[in-house]
Amino acid sequence: INQLEDLKDKRVLIRVDFNVPLDEERNIADDNRIRAALPTINYVLDEGGKVIVASHMGRPKGKRVESLSMAPVARRLGRLLKKEVALAPDCVGPEVEKMVSQMTSPGVIMLENLRFHDGETKNDPEFSQALARLCDVYVDDAFAVAHRAHASVVGVTQYAPVSVAGFTMKKELDYFRRAMIDPARPLAAVIGGAKAVTKLEALENLLNHVDKIIVGGAMANTFLKGVDYSVGNSMFEPELVPVANCLLRKAKELGVKLYIPVDCVVADRFDPKAETMITTVQEVPNDWMILDIGPATSMLYREALANCKTVIWNGPMGAFEMDAFSRGTYNMVSTVAQSYALSIVGGGDTDVAIHRLGETDNISYISTGGGAFLAMLTGDVLPAVEALGGATGMEVKGER
Ligand code: 3PG
Repeated sequence: INQLEDLKDKRVLIRVDFNVPLDEERNIADDNRIRAALPTINYVLDEGGKVIVASHMGRPKGKRVESLSMAPVARRLGRLLKKEVALAPDCVGPEVEKMVSQMTSPGVIMLENLRFHDGETKNDPEFSQALARLCDVYVDDAFAVAHRAHASVVGVTQYAPVSVAGFTMKKELDYFRRAMIDPARPLAAVIGGAKAVTKLEALENLLNHVDKIIVGGAMANTFLKGVDYSVGNSMFEPELVPVANCLLRKAKELGVKLYIPVDCVVADRFDPKAETMITTVQEVPNDWMILDIGPATSMLYREALANCKTVIWNGPMGAFEMDAFSRGTYNMVSTVAQSYALSIVGGGDTDVAIHRLGETDNISYISTGGGAFLAMLTGDVLPAVEALGGATGMEVKGER
């Protein structure tokens, strides 16, 4: 965006991802994504432009759902900008166009939830044109939704007079490039989380890039099953055991060190008050379930990461939302935060764990993306990034 010549009095449509978590009273539980967009918004305001902010929230499926209105987000944005942010009654249509035409610069309006129209998720050309009519310049600063081929990130770029990336989008891609395309080595990927099904494709692609892979979370159980350990009552995905096995084999062939847990915290039920104990992975009792990595595994993973110069992390090491099963994830936060490596972390849960320990300043970069971050690790071309011009250098599938 800072390559653009003159933004004075221009109508600048900034697509952000303000799909933030709300609590039961619809208060914003975490405003990181809103803060991440401030540099781009402030830049346009400082240049004398008129800012029109657009985002989706939740999945209202093309219908107006009041609980998914952008109202709380517009209020928070106003507070952070120290400026009035008017909420438009909709995101497209004559009323919104009139509101935009009456804006004075520098000013900010926030459009209502893009997904109240199904043209958004369908990448409908008419809806894309209606959005483009609102602006002289389109800025995409919504990395977190870049894996979706939706109208406000893909279609709109065909009709807006000028389309550019915002600062957050650029920063996300720059860090990713440093980690995956031209990394300082050894490069390690730490992959955790509950479901292997969402991560195995990423692991497969990562094998072609990284020197070490560290596996944690419930998805590690599928790997443990693959090497013939009984995992008791633990969650695992039987149909993916052969895939996990295949990845273990491939890692060996490629000389990638793939680490799986050696011990774990087990519980007699999935409950914060469950009875718990630490055991080796060889001795998980039949009726018990693995809910965290154990202390020996934390130590092993710390050792494995000690000489790494780049670390990418996605997904917690255990059910860290319950104190009894949080130690593995918090140990990993400390390990990554204390390391001298370039550290890039993505995914909502991982982000929450880092914030809880107050370690945000000690991580090189915390991505705003969840699904988008994983799509990048998988080597997918992100439709929104492609729509911005294609010359992203992001084609990272396959090469080692
Ligand atoms: C996210 O939170 O990952 C993005 O906002 C995308 O949301 P979606 O998964 O509903 O498309």
